Amino acid sequence: MSDRRAIIIDTDPGQDDALAILLALASEEFEVIGITTVAGNVPLPLTEKNARKICELAGKPETRVFAGASRPLVRDLVTAEYVHGKSGLDGPDLPEPAMPLQAQHGVDFIVETLRERASGEVALCTLGPLTNIALALVKAPDIAPKIREIVMMGGGFFEGGNTTPAAEFNIYVDPHAAATVFKSGVPITMIPLDCTHKALTTHERIDAMRAQGTKVTTAAAELIDFFERFDEDKYGTDGGPLHDPCVIAWLLKPDLFSGRDCNVEIETGSELTMGMTVVDWWGVTGRAKNAHVLRDVDANGFFGLLTERIARL
Ligand code: BDR
Ligand code: CA
Repeated sequence: MSDRRAIIIDTDPGQDDALAILLALASEEFEVIGITTVAGNVPLPLTEKNARKICELAGKPETRVFAGASRPLVRDLVTAEYVHGKSGLDGPDLPEPAMPLQAQHGVDFIVETLRERASGEVALCTLGPLTNIALALVKAPDIAPKIREIVMMGGGFFEGGNTTPAAEFNIYVDPHAAATVFKSGVPITMIPLDCTHKALTTHERIDAMRAQGTKVTTAAAELIDFFERFDEDKYGTDGGPLHDPCVIAWLLKPDLFSGRDCNVEIETGSELTMGMTVVDWWGVTGRAKNAHVLRDVDANGFFGLLTERIARL
């Protein structure tokens, strides 16, 4: 067993997913065992291709990328081209990837890896809808106690939702998968909009990234330039929230974040509030605490870490 922390990244790239993948691949603390992709921001054929583009941008074409679920468990797929562009990765002109897609299904890769590795060795970093993780837990319930933790970007409570008034995109797209994951007993750190809306891509922060002048930091700044324009208009802020890299940053530097243990339940019954993450922040229900919910981030520290790390690639 190596000293590095073994992670699987489950993702639907997406510009902010791309930044998260770059941060992970740049950080020697991690062994990125594989990247599994899911339908979300754009359909699966694009998310798996985008993941490979990003591995090549990082100079890590040996990274294994697997395609997982092409649709949510129960509901129809909802995508977000209006945020991420037609390709899901609009912005820089990234070449078509030459590295292969792995033949194995992403869900089978997750199951096989967890069975092979020691208990508590592998963490799952989820950056998209939770379909692959729920399918793995249903197919192979024996893996649940082996998962070290799930660190997810998803949900929103005090901030409300970004896709409906009640629901954040990743949970809204597959609420039934999210409900399965939150009931699994696996330790969960949830990074909701309440936290990521404080990680704003201000001009000063992105200019500092661009000023590094490397191929990767230039492409990263271009990805952010495209991605933030929608949220700047929506929220009227300088820059938009950079959601998914918070997952990797939390694993690298938890001191940048603060939160508390809570009960979290997922709404799957009401069409009006479908996919809402009901967080018992004040402990009023007595329901068992099933997640560590982050609410704050030191945004300058976060962007400093991100920039310093991806400039190494
Ligand atoms: C989440 O939805 C996606 O659009 C982003 O990639 C992020 O994972 C934010 O709600
Ligand atoms: Ca995402």
